[in-house]
Amino acid sequence: MTRQPIDELLAQLDRSLGDDARASEVTAALGRYAASGAQDWRAFAHFEADYYARNLVRQSELFELIVLCWGAGQRSPIHDHHGQRCWMAVLDGEVSESLFTVRDGPRAELSPGVARKFSRGSVAYIVDEMGWHRIEPAGGRPAVTMHLYSRPIRTCAIYDEQTQSVVTRTMRYHSIGGVVQTVSRS
Ligand code: SIN
Repeated sequence: MTRQPIDELLAQLDRSLGDDARASEVTAALGRYAASGAQDWRAFAHFEADYYARNLVRQSELFELIVLCWGAGQRSPIHDHHGQRCWMAVLDGEVSESLFTVRDGPRAELSPGVARKFSRGSVAYIVDEMGWHRIEPAGGRPAVTMHLYSRPIRTCAIYDEQTQSVVTRTMRYHSIGGVVQTVSRS
């Protein structure tokens, strides 16, 4: 079977994330893939009607690669990354990232930081020292992004806007390897 661009990307991630000295190659590899016009990510691009969809491409001990599908108006909660590194490459459309500082307590304190927009081919990077963030599609259009966590994240902390408190969220996938799962929320 012919190797697809996404197989080449996965092989590169195996090499680069297996050796910390090579982690800088990851941004370049994701950017190359996102800007190349490769379309094989579409096999993983499943949208949900009322929540952004998290679609697992592959998970290993070192990383998880996920395709996130954002319907217009859908957005992530404000969240951290559980001590792990997070890259985001834009595959389709445009997304906006808003940064926040969150101070936990009986009533958590939320301070907005900068907001940035990313278009197709761009790669963003975040770790907890840079803050928490929220991602949403920009321009009233759907968007598709590819997220790489190293190492994989099983839970994260989110700022619950209704109760103004920090709560733990278990991360779930709406599809795995292109097969849709039965989950009600992320
Ligand atoms: C998520 O993984 O559900 C949110 C996206 C991100 O943190 O980059």
